[in-house]
Amino acid sequence: MTKAVSKNIPVIAIDGPSGSGKGVITQRLARAFGYHILDSGAIYRLIGLVARKHGVSLEDEAALAALAEKLDVSFKTTGDAEDPLAIWLEGYDVTRDVRTDEAGVDASKVAPLAEVREAIRLLQRSFKRPPGLIADGRDMGTVVFADADVKIYLTASAQARAERRYKQLKDKDISVSLHSLFMSIRERDKRDMTREVAPLKPASHAAIIDSTSLSIDEVFDQALAIVTGKLD
Ligand code: DC
Repeated sequence: MTKAVSKNIPVIAIDGPSGSGKGVITQRLARAFGYHILDSGAIYRLIGLVARKHGVSLEDEAALAALAEKLDVSFKTTGDAEDPLAIWLEGYDVTRDVRTDEAGVDASKVAPLAEVREAIRLLQRSFKRPPGLIADGRDMGTVVFADADVKIYLTASAQARAERRYKQLKDKDISVSLHSLFMSIRERDKRDMTREVAPLKPASHAAIIDSTSLSIDEVFDQALAIVTGKLD
């Protein structure tokens, strides 16, 4: 009975490397279909934040897994098209803290730990609620929602992703070299793709979109066509 009910809730898994545009496409698809969003990267970032808050070492796998299992988090829609998701941790709005570079670095340290990944499996699956879910991450289609109705792997060359990030930072008057961004993207790709547990790779039968020379509108149109084609 439970199985039949949950089977009727569509899940769209969007995986891919950093800077491939997954976040924006996830938000636009969620708006188009009125579905919920799971930003799984934010959960790894939150584990890093919680660990720092409670003085737990980022190398203590068992203690991190225990924190992760009890993670008191909620995602709230803001109604703001630019920044639609507010993230609350233990009763506080941590939306900005979660997006810092430091939180990203901490997240990349806790993400390879098998016990941590296992500890948040059920939490991630609990985001599957009516009318449907768009799940964004690295292992949505391969592990957490291996049963997803639609799987999309969104990628772009490291150079294109570095140039996008460079432009975003430049627009905010933050000066950084394009080369250092490129090198750091390559390093993150390598870490995400070669780790032992849940490495980043396209799920079998995933539709692959290479956004290197596409505008965000063109990527969205392709993603929308894929999702509509599969859900109909
Ligand atoms: O997408 P992001 O930058 O917020 O991800 C933060 C870190 O978490 C990054 O190192 C990749 C990792 N991650 C993961 O291992 N599995 C996911 N499903 C999502 C993110």
